[in-house]
Amino acid sequence: MKKPKIAVAYSGGLDTSVIVKWLQEKYNADVITVTGNLGQKKELVGVAEKAYKSGAKKVFIQNLEKEFVNDYIFPALKAGALYEHSYPMATSIGRPLLAKALVEVAKREKCTHVAHGCTGKGNDQVRFEVSVMALAPELKVLAPLREWEFKSREEEIEYCQKHGIPVSATKKSPYSIDENIWGTSIECGILEDPMEVAPEDAYTRTTSPQDAPDKPTIVTLQFKAGVPVALNGKKMDPVSLIHKLNEIAGANGVGRLDLVENRLVGIKSREVYEAPAAVTLHFAHRELERLVLDKETMHYKAKLSNDYADIIYNGTWFSPLRKAFDAFIDETQKNVTGIVKVRLYKGNVEIAGRTSPYSLYDMKLATYTIEDTFDHTSAQGFINIYGLPLKTYNQVNKERFAKVKKALKRKR
Ligand code: ARG
Repeated sequence: MKKPKIAVAYSGGLDTSVIVKWLQEKYNADVITVTGNLGQKKELVGVAEKAYKSGAKKVFIQNLEKEFVNDYIFPALKAGALYEHSYPMATSIGRPLLAKALVEVAKREKCTHVAHGCTGKGNDQVRFEVSVMALAPELKVLAPLREWEFKSREEEIEYCQKHGIPVSATKKSPYSIDENIWGTSIECGILEDPMEVAPEDAYTRTTSPQDAPDKPTIVTLQFKAGVPVALNGKKMDPVSLIHKLNEIAGANGVGRLDLVENRLVGIKSREVYEAPAAVTLHFAHRELERLVLDKETMHYKAKLSNDYADIIYNGTWFSPLRKAFDAFIDETQKNVTGIVKVRLYKGNVEIAGRTSPYSLYDMKLATYTIEDTFDHTSAQGFINIYGLPLKTYNQVNKERFAKVKKALKRKR
């Protein structure tokens, strides 16, 4: 058999480091690693060196942050996509992009296979593999965690020591953590018991609401066609804006979520999330839409938000349906331009004001003062017709019920 060439989605953690060596040994393969920078803070230090020490022939570290924000996060924000009405999906939405980067390198380097380090009971394996299937059906996918012999972390560490792979000396956190610019996902350890409150040490990028400042922080966010363009009056590129907002909102304890969610693979799992910028931006965006979207579009879009979230969560990002949704959503975003003022206070984000050149709010129609221009007389005719079906239904049935009742009485 020709020597296989495998591109591995490499995070620099224990699992993916073991994977590199394991694939090399098991398949006598040339292994290439691909690491994506999605704006995660700590993980990338020393990654290349570790990959080489794990046996990689070539190492690629791709800066995907800008693409992530513009082509993945912003479409999801515009769609209002929150899985099960809450989770902004930092992890879920990063997978298709990581898969895309992996496929691009794999093709360029003429790889026969790609591999990932996702477990056999999570959503991420599905997102990765379905994305690869869509982008490069000719590539075979390997998922070592679903088939290898290691049963514990200790066994993996032993394997590393045997092969001279550096194991980070820092004490391993009891949690499984995935982090990027849009948020952090934290699971395992004590969090597996949904009746246990998430301990403070589970959180890494938000201040506890209890310890957050006693005074609210006001933030203004300027949107243009559905995406943020300025923070506190200062124009910023999208990546810097989100990082800055993560800092400000995180310091106010905003963005913590504690969820029991339905995984695609049928399991209910408990996970906590920290997504200060994502939660704040989704909130502000929604408030602006309330001002500028007509009622029918706004109500219709709410249904689509759920479907869009399912697409992201379930891993079918590279689908014709998602593209079609984007076309619809972009049409709805043309007037989502304006400024939203929010108040961040001890874990909460509240509306403090909104304005837009496309606002549909008409004070002359809304007011209860003398300025009122709403035609009260037309309300009466409207109500007569609007209530007609209910009136008819109840009238007809009242007569019918009365007849039935009478007939029954006679029988007795
Ligand atoms: N439940 C989330 C999702 O499926 C996050 C999964 C990864 N979580 C983690 N802590 N590694 O999108």
